[in-house]
Amino acid sequence: MKLGRQILLFIVVFATLMSCKNTNSDTAKNEKTQQVRQTTTEQHRPLFHFSPQSGWMNDPNGMVYFKGEYHLFYQHYPDSTVWGPMHWGHAVSKDLVHWEHLPIALYPDSIGYIFSGSAVVDEKNTSGFGKNGEPPLVAIYTYHDMAGEKSGKNNFQTQGIAYSLDNGRTWTKYAQNPVIKNPNVKDFRDPKVMWYEPTKNWILALAVADHIEFYASKDLKNWEKTSEFGKTEGAHGGVWECPDLFPLKVEGSNTEKWVLIVNIGNGAPNKGSGGQYFIGTFDGKTFKNDNKPTDLLWLDYGTDNYAGVTWSNSPDNRRTLIGWMSNWQYAQVVPTTTWRSATTIPRDLTLRQTPQGVRLVQKPVKELEILRGSSQTIAASDIQDFKIIDSTSVAKEIELSFDLSKSNAKTFGVVLSNTKNEKVEIGYDAVTKQFFIDRREAGKKSFSDKFPSRQTAPRFSSDNTLKMHLYIDVASVELFADDGNPVLTTIFFPNEDFKTAKIFAQNGLSHLLKGQVWALK
Ligand code: FRU
Repeated sequence: MKLGRQILLFIVVFATLMSCKNTNSDTAKNEKTQQVRQTTTEQHRPLFHFSPQSGWMNDPNGMVYFKGEYHLFYQHYPDSTVWGPMHWGHAVSKDLVHWEHLPIALYPDSIGYIFSGSAVVDEKNTSGFGKNGEPPLVAIYTYHDMAGEKSGKNNFQTQGIAYSLDNGRTWTKYAQNPVIKNPNVKDFRDPKVMWYEPTKNWILALAVADHIEFYASKDLKNWEKTSEFGKTEGAHGGVWECPDLFPLKVEGSNTEKWVLIVNIGNGAPNKGSGGQYFIGTFDGKTFKNDNKPTDLLWLDYGTDNYAGVTWSNSPDNRRTLIGWMSNWQYAQVVPTTTWRSATTIPRDLTLRQTPQGVRLVQKPVKELEILRGSSQTIAASDIQDFKIIDSTSVAKEIELSFDLSKSNAKTFGVVLSNTKNEKVEIGYDAVTKQFFIDRREAGKKSFSDKFPSRQTAPRFSSDNTLKMHLYIDVASVELFADDGNPVLTTIFFPNEDFKTAKIFAQNGLSHLLKGQVWALK
């Protein structure tokens, strides 16, 4: 009996020591992450896009606005620059432009790696996690059991929850995780949760192999499946991942539509991973597509905007999307050093009635204007060959409008270049009626034969005024064409920064109506 108690005591002391060890190593890891400061001397490190201080990053996760802060969590492996045991990295911003790195929010545990998911403010404390009248933040994420996967099981992905009572600084995992068990399907992940007021339910959209499943809950802990969508709708070139579901007003009207974003791991318009979306109705249980099952709507035609989802709880019904600025085709081999990947700039979403139907429109968030430094206005003129832009700053914003009725150039747009004869062309092809970004001669490319490419997007507008709005950073360009539809996001890795920018017109002239260029601080 005495011996039994001693053994018990030993077990308790040992377990306590082990749990301390765990906490200490978590702290050590956090310190390590904190110590490596972001410097702009690293080649290819973006200047105004979010990137992890060090290590690997993929999808943005759990974005939620709370008490004046935009939280950005992200798929993170701090110990390597390639994908590995997934954590939730964490950063906050008051303006969506300047980000403060915070310690890792969620570490892998005995149930598994922490895959993608979302976070909500549980205003009514439906979960009971809140204390002293303060609502908890609740994160809902996928557990990925690596050992289970390796042993050939199918049910290695489940959904778990965690909560924070200190503005997202520290998180406690729910003791009874997982909250959604796996019905024996391999791909069962990336829960996105929202509050649905008419039925006073939490709604969860989950990517399940080739479709989306919707679940409902009163308390974020007990979930019931309500419907499925998509087995025979949209693009199916790859596994469905990272969904998002939200209502939006159509610009200039009171009509509300529901948007269902579904990222797919392969088969995007310019190859590899990308984001599609559906427009329709949602009644708290079922999503119905307004368009034909074969209609494909793409969030971004560039190769480098994946896993894009939106912030929950933003003020004034704001819907802001941010994506992972890479592509699974080559994400793990891009030539950066201490870190891999960045996010896109945040974009406000609206819906617009177009001749083709209601479409999603993306606008760079207004807050980005605080980055604008010295500016140059370019007056209306005919462009033949080249017109040099004054600014030699690498980070730039460029807004151009052209009059197609006074242009006969085959292609026109902007070319970025350096002294090593490397270049990126961003433009419009008047013959094929396509916008394009050509990075075939943009510098480093031998790391993947999937990387060099000329990416295209259809022009949807038939207006004679054609618009291009560009955000250019050290290693990326984002083109918002015709006020945000279509959009192309593309990364590149020049051997020397692109300091020269020119407006170009080839095989004819193009009539510039107005140009505005800002060096970005
Ligand atoms: C998308 C994705 C998600 C998954 C995560 C793992 O890029 O594959 O489906 O949760 O990355 O890191």
